[in-house]
Amino acid sequence: MRMRKKRNLIPRMERCAALLVKEPALHRSRWRSDFPGFQELHLEIGCGRGRFTVEIAKQNPHVFFIAIERVADAMIIGLERAMEEGLTNIRFITQDASNLLEFFGEGELDRIYLNFSDPWPGKRHAKRRLTSERFLPVYKKILRPGGAIHFKTDNNELFEYSLGTFQEAGFALSEITRNLHERGPVGAMTDYEMKFHAQGVSINRCVATFIGERDEAAPDAGAEQTEKVDE
Ligand SMILES: C[S@@+](CC[C@H](N)C(=O)[O-])C[C@H]1O[C@@H](n2cnc3c(N)ncnc32)[C@H](O)[C@@H]1O
Repeated sequence: MRMRKKRNLIPRMERCAALLVKEPALHRSRWRSDFPGFQELHLEIGCGRGRFTVEIAKQNPHVFFIAIERVADAMIIGLERAMEEGLTNIRFITQDASNLLEFFGEGELDRIYLNFSDPWPGKRHAKRRLTSERFLPVYKKILRPGGAIHFKTDNNELFEYSLGTFQEAGFALSEITRNLHERGPVGAMTDYEMKFHAQGVSINRCVATFIGERDEAAPDAGAEQTEKVDE
């Protein structure tokens, strides 16, 4: 996401400190006990400006939401939206998703949202896609058996590619649609989704459920399985 540098980013982040998790690794395998009183734990990866996360957090007070976004200039908008709404069931992390295994323990999450992930066209950059075989073993490690990835994208190539990688990694696919809003808006929309929907672009969606078989070779936290790829 290309963003103009936000003025006063640091003081704005400080004003939202209550909802910002600066050291997520400290909560690894302890999110539920550190933030008690919720029935489920959901993670959104690449939340951008956070419209979707804030909306679903409002709609689901029994779920604790964590949103991770590597661009602080985008995430600050979501943080401020959540503060304005007075939400207590949401936290934000400004980090790269390559570090997920440092932040979440085995089977800790009930759900992962991937919304309008960067498509990274071309074979050379395929490893950067959040639905590539670099990331899927990690999701299998941190999701509980029966937990699921909810995936939406406007990008048809990324969608077809991801249906393939999900299946190859042993996820069970369901709720596959290539035109989510065909009969009117469905569910909370992200910022990108609102823009594309207004332009008449069809939105793809599927659910990929982790049926419980972890890869033997799945990496431990700290291992360089999801090594950062230079931009
Ligand atoms: C195309 S934008 C979509 C933003 C938002 N989900 C929406 O639908 O409005 C993709 C977002 O994912 C973030 N992102 C991509 N790869 C990431 C990674 N490895 N770790 C954290 N955030 C990432 C980008 O910085 C960007 O904000």
